Amino acid sequence: MTPVLLDCDPGHDDAIAIMLAAGDSAVDLLAITTVAGNQTLGKTTLNALRVCTLAGIRDVPVGAGCARPLTRPLRVAADVHGASGLDGPRFAEPTVRAVGEHAVDLVHRVLHEHPEPVTVVPTGPLTNIALLLTRYPGDAARIREIVLMGGSTERGNVGPYAEFNIFVDPEAAAIVFGSGVPVTMCGLNVTHQALVTPDVVARLEALGGELGPVCAELMTFFASTYRELWGFEAPPLHDPVAVARVIDPALVECVDAHVAIEVAGEHTRGATVVDLHGYLGHAPNAKVAVGLDVPRFWDRLVAALGRLNGRRGGG
Ligand code: RIB
Ligand code: CA
Repeated sequence: MTPVLLDCDPGHDDAIAIMLAAGDSAVDLLAITTVAGNQTLGKTTLNALRVCTLAGIRDVPVGAGCARPLTRPLRVAADVHGASGLDGPRFAEPTVRAVGEHAVDLVHRVLHEHPEPVTVVPTGPLTNIALLLTRYPGDAARIREIVLMGGSTERGNVGPYAEFNIFVDPEAAAIVFGSGVPVTMCGLNVTHQALVTPDVVARLEALGGELGPVCAELMTFFASTYRELWGFEAPPLHDPVAVARVIDPALVECVDAHVAIEVAGEHTRGATVVDLHGYLGHAPNAKVAVGLDVPRFWDRLVAALGRLNGRRGGG
């Protein structure tokens, strides 16, 4: 099992990423931390607690982190995820509570308590992780790798070349990609292969129990905003791709490349400048995802959610 810390901004796709990490036997989910991104910190934290309550994830500490980017004002994605950040299904009042520690201190503690280096999986803006590496620079040695959802080798989704997680806090992303910690970047170019088609929704629904209908309803809402905003027939489920890379690296094909973060571009703030052909002469500082084994990805995700459902006495 790979020890994992998940830093997220739930968010419909983050919610499924939490359940994938908790349900798959290849992952030992040590902690969940939240950051402002898709919605404000209060809402992303509440949503993480809602998902943990729904999925019966009661033995994983949840810590709230940064309420805004390092230097810039927060931009949320209510147009994609709704006013709550997890619109669609109704959730019961969460019974899972957040710990009192700030996310950065929780991650610091877990990194030092765990006997081996830990894989950190950020699926939101990188504010918490950048702050960790700045506040506790020695922690870099206790991180096995950072496998993040963010960026793109192609076009963006909040700017012509900017993907949301990087765009919200480009300074944080520059710290992470420049930290020397091994980084794997799962960008839009690959997550747009993870489309939640009606067949996938039906497989989720068929899980039954507590999780099946709620996950299907989450995806139905997510599909409605992606259709309205970008004309997608089916929404891309970004964040679970990063978790899948940790679960089985063969699911996500990667190449080594230098990635620079554009923090000052008049038109390109937040762009991940992925030098796939080494034009700029910099040594690679990341593994960049370029391919996804789509059928095996969905099989693994549905199986993990089914396992989680079973633990709850569901479907
Ligand atoms: O651009 C997509 C990413 O931004 C996903 O992680 C989504 O949840 C949002 O955080
Ligand atoms: Ca996210």
